[in-house]
Amino acid sequence: MKNLGLIVFGIGIMWANAMQASSLPVYLDNGRPVEERIEDALSRMTLQEKIGLLHAQSKFSSRGVPRLGIPELWTTDGPHGIRPEVLWDEWNQAGWSNDSCVAFPALTCLAATWNPAMSSLYGHSIGEEARYRNKSVLLGPGVNIYRTPLNGRNFEYMGEDPYLAARMVVPYIKGVQSNGVATCVKHYALNNQEYNRHTTNVTVDDRTLYEIYLPAFKAAVTEGGTWTIMGAYNLYNNEHACHNQKLLNDILKKEWQFDGAVISDWGGTHDTMQAIKNGLDLEFGSWTNGLSEGSKNAYDSYYLADPYIKLINSGALGTTELDDKCRRILRLIFRTAMNPNRPFGSLCSDSHYEAARRIGDEGIVLLRNEGEILPIKKAEGTAPRILVVGENAIKMMTVGGGSSSLKVQREVSPLDGIRSAAKEIGATVEYARGYVGDVNGEYNGVTSGQNLKDSRSAKELIAEAVNMARDADYVIFVGGLNKSNHQDCEGSDRKSYSLPYHQNDVIEALSKANRNLIVVNVSGNAVEMPWVKKVPGIIQAWYLGSEAGNSIADVIFGKVNPSGKLPFSFPLSLNDNGAHSMGQYPGIKRNKENVWDEEYREGILVGYRWHDTKRIKPLFAFGHGLSYTSFMIGDASVDKKEITQSDSITITVPVTNTGVIPGAEVVQLYIADPVCSVTRPTKELKGFEKVYLQPGETRHVSFTVGIDALSYFDSDSHQWKAEPGEFKAMLGNSSDKIASTVSFVLKK
Ligand code: BGC
Repeated sequence: MKNLGLIVFGIGIMWANAMQASSLPVYLDNGRPVEERIEDALSRMTLQEKIGLLHAQSKFSSRGVPRLGIPELWTTDGPHGIRPEVLWDEWNQAGWSNDSCVAFPALTCLAATWNPAMSSLYGHSIGEEARYRNKSVLLGPGVNIYRTPLNGRNFEYMGEDPYLAARMVVPYIKGVQSNGVATCVKHYALNNQEYNRHTTNVTVDDRTLYEIYLPAFKAAVTEGGTWTIMGAYNLYNNEHACHNQKLLNDILKKEWQFDGAVISDWGGTHDTMQAIKNGLDLEFGSWTNGLSEGSKNAYDSYYLADPYIKLINSGALGTTELDDKCRRILRLIFRTAMNPNRPFGSLCSDSHYEAARRIGDEGIVLLRNEGEILPIKKAEGTAPRILVVGENAIKMMTVGGGSSSLKVQREVSPLDGIRSAAKEIGATVEYARGYVGDVNGEYNGVTSGQNLKDSRSAKELIAEAVNMARDADYVIFVGGLNKSNHQDCEGSDRKSYSLPYHQNDVIEALSKANRNLIVVNVSGNAVEMPWVKKVPGIIQAWYLGSEAGNSIADVIFGKVNPSGKLPFSFPLSLNDNGAHSMGQYPGIKRNKENVWDEEYREGILVGYRWHDTKRIKPLFAFGHGLSYTSFMIGDASVDKKEITQSDSITITVPVTNTGVIPGAEVVQLYIADPVCSVTRPTKELKGFEKVYLQPGETRHVSFTVGIDALSYFDSDSHQWKAEPGEFKAMLGNSSDKIASTVSFVLKK
């Protein structure tokens, strides 16, 4: 009897559950297919509610549908850490005390690891931070191609090569999105400078667009499966990129079948009809055009707000576009904020600091190491005296630079990192300022808390450093750029290619005072190095985030054997760069219009494609980076001598660690098409692999490439084409160090 009672009770519960499940509206039922839920939600929404989905309700959020329990959508910058909370309707800080984050290395550093596993680690880790902070959309990563070393925002991007950027962006996206947080890949497209970023109208031929500027975005969509994309500020074909028929409708949504949402850059929307028709889905930050910043109900005045409702109510427009936009945004919300399976995330965890340090360690590039000055080691019975010089040794770099600015839980400065590593080998460390750059340490109300003021003259600072340098065993100069305006910073470009703040004078003077000079260049851009031959040790250290000092010290003292490779070329002088040599940067002002036209006249010859093809030797080549061990790349072989259009070919090459310590080498595959009816670059990157090798160890690295790797984009037929004939596969460890070349033939 007792049992019967239990059975009846159990059946009762099951029945109640079933009733509850069936009474759940379809859009809330996680068991139903997403597309069905989208249609159901849409069918329940009023016009006002649909429009409410399409635009911001605060600086970083949009409304959702409160009546239906469809939550707000919260976005955050991106791309190197999670931005601190700002006030509802202002850029200033909300003053929370639980919004400090881990700063990961800048994306130039990530690209310099040439290691997709590091991208995956980065994406997972930053995604966890975003998720813990309850964000649904991470505004990043950025994959605009590095066209000129003056672009203030290059540090947020992944270098000059479309193949490298494409391979590196995909794991980042997957890592972030595995947390139920969307990436917002930016800035689509052709946002290659900050100068006049809202008014530059880019003209570029289709071949260049498809071969150079689009592949990383395409990979982000078709392979990474990004759930959102951010439109860029600039114009292309006389239409703003945020509502651009060709970029958004024809290419992104039609050719690549993107099913996610297009989000405008903040203030990047300029026209209601274009925004409706030309592919924009979600409008943010339209403080411009007469809407005063923060004024009451300004959000309702957005281009995709009241003006859109008026057009529909007046009968001028139907709701086809509106419904499509809503579907995309609902899909985004179901994938993120309403995803019941997303993990909870974590913030400032040990594993995030470890990830930041590992990525920094792998991304630092050893540019020069004459006489093996590095790593610094303790010789028997000595205690090396080290002098550190330069503002960047002490300046916090996570504050500043624009929207990527952060409030970090901690940041290890290069000086502190060097000090603690030096202690381990019994070395002493002294510090001299050397130069005063920018002492400002504030962005949108976040302050570094550092007082860097120093009123001494340049002459006095140099004299002090030189005096101290004479007594040192090693001098480590830590300089470069910083995150202030006209350096590596959003909203403006650099004013010149050379190092600012008289740093060249400091370096020249130090090189005369002490031969054991090491320069650590902290920047997201190439810089001119007129002193290069006088400095035996040069390290490219990027912006490394929370663990900056530790990663730099890891490399300087040899705890880590450097394995980073440059993701962009360092030209000797600015004019050796294609965009500057062919000259329309920064654009030509139109008569009586606030538009600056800029034709990308160098076409496909961007970065090393320019240096190689025009035979202009760079200061440091794309792909370059030294190690504390040595490697030998042997003779490459192919599995067949001839291939057809539908075939693939496998190229194999042995690589050996010929030194005495373990290390990693990046084997790079470039393809060349020596005879073709159209201009082709001398060679193009089509494969790479980072290989970890013990001393004496050899591994065979294989690359399988198909017709894609041999093709160029033919604008006339709007198709990729490969012309039959001989191709070359070139293998090396830098674009200027090819160790082995093999030929094969593409048959008719
Ligand atoms: C930047 C974006 C950023 C947005 C929100 C814009 O000014 O261009 O990259 O995500 O602001 O902060």
